[in-house]
Amino acid sequence: MSVQKIQIFDTTLRDGEQVPGCKLDMDEKLVIARQLELLGVDVIEAGFPISSPGDFEAVKAIAAQTKQATVCGLSRAVEQDILTAAEALKGARFPRIHTGIGTSDSHIKFKLRTTQEKVLERAVEAVKLAKKYVEDVEFYAEDAGRTDNEFLARVCEAVIKAGATVLNIPDTTGYCLPEEYGAKIKYLVENVNGVDRVRLSTHCHNDLGLATANSIAGVINGARQIECTINGVGERAGNTALEEVVMILRQHPYLNLDTNINTKLLTETSAMVSQMMRMPVQANKAIVGSNAFSHSSGIHQDGVIKHRETYEIIDPKDVGVNDSSIVLTARSGRAALAYRLQKLGYDFDKATLDKAYASFLQIADRKKEVVDEDLHQLVEQENLIAAN
Ligand code: KIV
Ligand code: ZN
Repeated sequence: MSVQKIQIFDTTLRDGEQVPGCKLDMDEKLVIARQLELLGVDVIEAGFPISSPGDFEAVKAIAAQTKQATVCGLSRAVEQDILTAAEALKGARFPRIHTGIGTSDSHIKFKLRTTQEKVLERAVEAVKLAKKYVEDVEFYAEDAGRTDNEFLARVCEAVIKAGATVLNIPDTTGYCLPEEYGAKIKYLVENVNGVDRVRLSTHCHNDLGLATANSIAGVINGARQIECTINGVGERAGNTALEEVVMILRQHPYLNLDTNINTKLLTETSAMVSQMMRMPVQANKAIVGSNAFSHSSGIHQDGVIKHRETYEIIDPKDVGVNDSSIVLTARSGRAALAYRLQKLGYDFDKATLDKAYASFLQIADRKKEVVDEDLHQLVEQENLIAAN
C-alpha cells in the first residue's frame, strides 16, 4: 500500500494565539509564518480577520509573503466575517476561507438559540458565499465532538453540495475518547454522499489530554488533514501538538501515513514559538521538552550508552537535537560517570573509577546535577591519574 499524505494545517497563529498573554505582534507573526513554511506545513491559518484590524493586517501580510503553503482565514457563518476574510486573503497564492457554525445540541440551543434546520441553512449559505471569493473553502462544524453523528452527516453532505473542499470535525471541548472520535470520522466516511470529493480534517482540543490520540484515531479512520499548533499551544489545555502527531506518523511507518514536515526543524520552531509567545515548554513535553532526550537514572544511562535505541525510540537528530544527554545525578551509575569522564578526556582504570564514583556520589547527594566543572574539580582534588 502506498504512503498517503496527511496535510498539516497549522493554527498556531489563530487558535494558538487566542491564549491570554501569547499575543504576537505583526513582525513576530510574519517570522513564525515564514518558519512554518520552512517546516513544511501545508496550511497556515493566519488569523481571524474580522476579529480586529491588527489580525486583518496580519492575515493580509502573511498572505502576501507566503509562497508554497495555503493561507487560511477564519470566519463565522456570518456575511461580514466571510467578506472580511476574503478581502484579507486577496493577495494569497493559495487562499482558503474557513467558515462554520456550531452543530451540537448545546451550541444550537444555548449559544445560537436556533434550530438544526436553521443551522443547516446558515452552513450552506456561508459556504456558497465564501465560494464566490475562493475555490478552497473549509467548513467547520463547531463542537462536532458532541454532535449527533446523523445530524453531523446531514450538515457535511449539505456543505459538500454547496462547494466545501475540506470538512473540519472539531472536538472543540476536548471531550471525545479516541475510539469515539475515530468512529465519528469512520461514520462520516461511510455515510456522507460526496465525502470522497473532500478532505476530512481533525481539530482536537486537549482538555482531557487526548488531543493527539484523537487526531491519530481520526487519520487512521480516514481523515486526511490534522489541525494543530506548535507545542500544542491553544486556549485552556491547548490544541493538538504538531510535533507529536508528525513524529507519531513518522515512527509508525506501517500506518502508511506521513506528512511533508521537515522534522529536523521541529526543535528550533518550538523554541521560536515558545520564546515569542512567552509560553515556556514543559521539560517533559514529548519531542520538544528539554528532558525529551535526556537520561538520568543509572539503569537507563547504562542502556543508552551501550545502545541508544534501548531507551530512545526517536533519534534526537531527526528532530534537530544534536545528541541525547546523560545527566549526572545521585541516581546515575558508574557507566554514566565513566562515559562523561571519558568525554572530558579522563580514561580511568576500574580502581580509580571506583574512587571517583565514591566522591561523585557525595557531590551528587549535595547537588541536583553534577556538571563538567564538578568533575574536573573532583579529579584534581582526589589526585586521580588517568590510565594512559
Ligand atoms: O475548536 C474549534 O471548534 C475551532 C473552530 C473555530 C474551528 O477552533
Ligand atoms: Zn479550536
